[in-house]
Amino acid sequence: MSKPNYILGISCFYHDSGAVLLRDGEVVYAAQEERFTRKKHDDAIPVEVVKRALAHEGITIDDIDAVGFYEKPLLKFFDRILQTYFKVWPRGLVSYHHAMQEWMTKKLWTNHLFGKELGYKGPIFYSSHHEAHAASSYYASKFEDAAIVTVDGVGEWATTTVGYAKGTELALTEEIHFPHSLGLLYSAITYYLGFKVNSAEYKVMGLAPYGEPKYVEQMHKLLDLKPDGSFALNMEYFTYEYTLRMTGKKLEQLLGQPRRNPESSLDQFHKDVAASVQAITEEAMMLIVKHAKETCPSENLCLAGGVALNCVANGKILRSNMFKNIYIQPASGDAGGALGVAYLIWHREFKGKRSSPLPHAYWGSEYDGTAIEHALKDHGLTYEKLSASDTIKTVAQLLEGDNVIGWFQGRMEYGPRALGNRSIIADARNKENWKKVNLKIKFRESFRPFAPTVLEEKVDDWFELDRESPYMLLVADVHADKREKIPAVTHVDGSARIQTINREQNPRYYDLIKAFDDRTGCPVIINTSFNVRGEPIVESPKDAINCFLHTQMDYLVLGNFLVRKDAQNQKMQDNAAYLEQFELD
Ligand SMILES: [Fe+2]
Repeated sequence: MSKPNYILGISCFYHDSGAVLLRDGEVVYAAQEERFTRKKHDDAIPVEVVKRALAHEGITIDDIDAVGFYEKPLLKFFDRILQTYFKVWPRGLVSYHHAMQEWMTKKLWTNHLFGKELGYKGPIFYSSHHEAHAASSYYASKFEDAAIVTVDGVGEWATTTVGYAKGTELALTEEIHFPHSLGLLYSAITYYLGFKVNSAEYKVMGLAPYGEPKYVEQMHKLLDLKPDGSFALNMEYFTYEYTLRMTGKKLEQLLGQPRRNPESSLDQFHKDVAASVQAITEEAMMLIVKHAKETCPSENLCLAGGVALNCVANGKILRSNMFKNIYIQPASGDAGGALGVAYLIWHREFKGKRSSPLPHAYWGSEYDGTAIEHALKDHGLTYEKLSASDTIKTVAQLLEGDNVIGWFQGRMEYGPRALGNRSIIADARNKENWKKVNLKIKFRESFRPFAPTVLEEKVDDWFELDRESPYMLLVADVHADKREKIPAVTHVDGSARIQTINREQNPRYYDLIKAFDDRTGCPVIINTSFNVRGEPIVESPKDAINCFLHTQMDYLVLGNFLVRKDAQNQKMQDNAAYLEQFELD
């Protein structure tokens, strides 16, 4: 038997670094570095992920045939960054120094650092940033051909591309370049609204349904949108070319209010601005997708890039029926670039056969019963060990009502969402659970909606959706007659960010919801990521136990181990009670 081919895809140095290991063109391990280093949006070389990927396969770095990096550092830095700063010189001096410093310490030394940190001596390939996005979606899809649309903040130069793929060939045919960027427009408004850029864009999306798009006219002043989907930003309103801030006085004048102080309250104005940027983003996305349909001979669309995490826009694209099928892989943002570049090397450098469709998102770390029990004993917790079937039965029963349960099972998800292996779950029928999970568990803004997981075969009984949405990347309406039944996952505008689940993807999680459905007649539960505000999703039993002990979570289920909060000693219970007193948003 010949030795398998191993390719490591890497994305890092911007935000959300990640690594993917392919064996003969198929994913065997994929994860984001932040989960292991516990640094949210960690952008360092994903050394921890690589170490675990190698251990998972029982190989060493010398078994790796090729490493791929998800963008071309020289093109990005010599070309875009230097040109940009010289164009706005000397106004850009501050951010030029900042970028140069970062470049000197990180980017220039990619090869050196990778060799030093991991001892890798083989070939390193580079793809363009948007090619990596495109490949991550197309090669993971089941399509034999597809139109491709990638939209994000910025890669080297490109911010938006349209392309076409057939068989193992993929080519981007059209591009829009920096500084004109839908992702940066969204980030600029995120900044203006007092949220964290490259991190809180989804909060703006969650806030939008509370507002009216009253400022769309102003948004059109920011973004000159053409009927063919091409666009240009009016750079008078943005300052990201030459400062570390994204917007300045001119945008404040246009919108009539100063930038929101991050800790101050959110009023109707902010909600209306969020609704307006969401509206123009959707309008632009629809025009770009329409253009892709007109120029690419396919019924299938692959979306990728950070803006493809905008599941409200994705839902609208789906309902427009421009394309019969749409695919978005679970790590559509920059962490997914690692997947894309690995696929590109397999298909281009090694002329490998077409990779199989990605069956699910569970490609990260896993802990067996021994490791879990060890962690429980380490923390001095009282716990019960159940059989697999009793775990499902007991948890389905505990889910009824107002219990909040930490559900830690199997391999960790790849991508930004918890999809049933590192999740906090609760009864979607109980409206109070929305408040309880937000304030007592996640310590976060109460406007943020929760996403439902629904049994795939029952999705259209409850939602205006006739297909799977396994990665929580589509928003659709809850049927009008069902909204009252699942208030904890129904957003203010009647919509929900849906995750469908079938038994092939995740038998444990499926069986749990099926058992809950059998008891209650409701195949829908709340699924939110297992973490508190500002922290990465839990990775290990230890992280899960810490989160459990520092919040008002009622139960923790680690594999087949059940931990009850009220069975713990007073000190542990007091710890959680102490935290309850904080007034949060
Ligand atoms: Fe990107």
